[in-house]
Amino acid sequence: MAKRLITTELLEEDKRIEGSLRPQRLGEYIGQAKAKENLRIYIEAAKARGESLDHVLFFGPPGLGKTTLAGVIANEMGVNFKVTAGPAIEKPGDMAAILNNLQEGDVLFIDEIHRLNRQVEELLYPAMEDFVIDIVIGKGATAKSIRLELPRFTLVGATTRAGMLTAPLRDRFGVVSRLEFYTVEELTEIILRSAKVLHVDITKEGADELARRSRGTPRLANRLLKRVRDFAQIRYDNHITKEVADTALDFLEVDKLGLDHIDREILKTMIERFHGGPVGIEAVATTIGEDAGTVEEVYEPFLVQNGLILRTPRGRVVSDLGYQHFGLPLPAQEKKE
Ligand code: ADE
Repeated sequence: MAKRLITTELLEEDKRIEGSLRPQRLGEYIGQAKAKENLRIYIEAAKARGESLDHVLFFGPPGLGKTTLAGVIANEMGVNFKVTAGPAIEKPGDMAAILNNLQEGDVLFIDEIHRLNRQVEELLYPAMEDFVIDIVIGKGATAKSIRLELPRFTLVGATTRAGMLTAPLRDRFGVVSRLEFYTVEELTEIILRSAKVLHVDITKEGADELARRSRGTPRLANRLLKRVRDFAQIRYDNHITKEVADTALDFLEVDKLGLDHIDREILKTMIERFHGGPVGIEAVATTIGEDAGTVEEVYEPFLVQNGLILRTPRGRVVSDLGYQHFGLPLPAQEKKE
């Protein structure tokens, strides 16, 4: 198994606990059939040629497995896995140090790669393309530029904001893969697998109920499983049935679709302040005090995928389903497109 070298602490507690639940190999990885199938071919081909894998970019909403897949790539290639994140690399020197410590074939994972600053990003261009970096030593008239050869590594970048990546960076990835929301069936399977790892006793129906409320996202599914396990432990004899899952999730205020506070805020703002739309994403984002790009790339995809928000040429509109979800009467038909 690849040695996991952490150059940056993954700060959130959830990410840390989640570690043990992450699949290590492609064969254990549930869902993302398309991405997996492609990766399997590229990995096999690169290995057969004795080469490092081409650079890979994963994009999509948070929690869908970008970091996990990067680790799986390292394991499948049998190389080291180094993890860092865009905001953690402040100076070109930091990036140069990370790159200089890589070994042949290593996977360098950069999370939130859209948040690299420009100088650091520019250092990556020759590193990705020609496996060299030019570093400047000294200052003023005596400054000298020296070229450093790098081993042929694989950069795996992840971003929730594909639209924020510069074209020169995006173009240097040989493989670009969009991760999709998971189906309820896939999430059920993931929850049953995680329950086994955590020694949690759960029925298929219990797992299914959790899956339905996990917003298409394994990270959330695993987090909810742990919270519901606490309930089962204290109140329900350590056993998660559909009824236990239902009661615990209601208590946790996770609604039937798994919408979180911000999802609900977006929908309610559209309904209460903008008559259900059409409304521009910027107006909604400003009203709830969020960044428009984050609303568009982090929250909206799930709401659109589930038919709660419709995207029309005139702007976003709350669907009938969106109103029904809050138990609200439907607006007059002429408001809808
Ligand atoms: N745990 C989190 N994500 C997973 C996945 N895609 N497959 C299996 N287990 C997981």
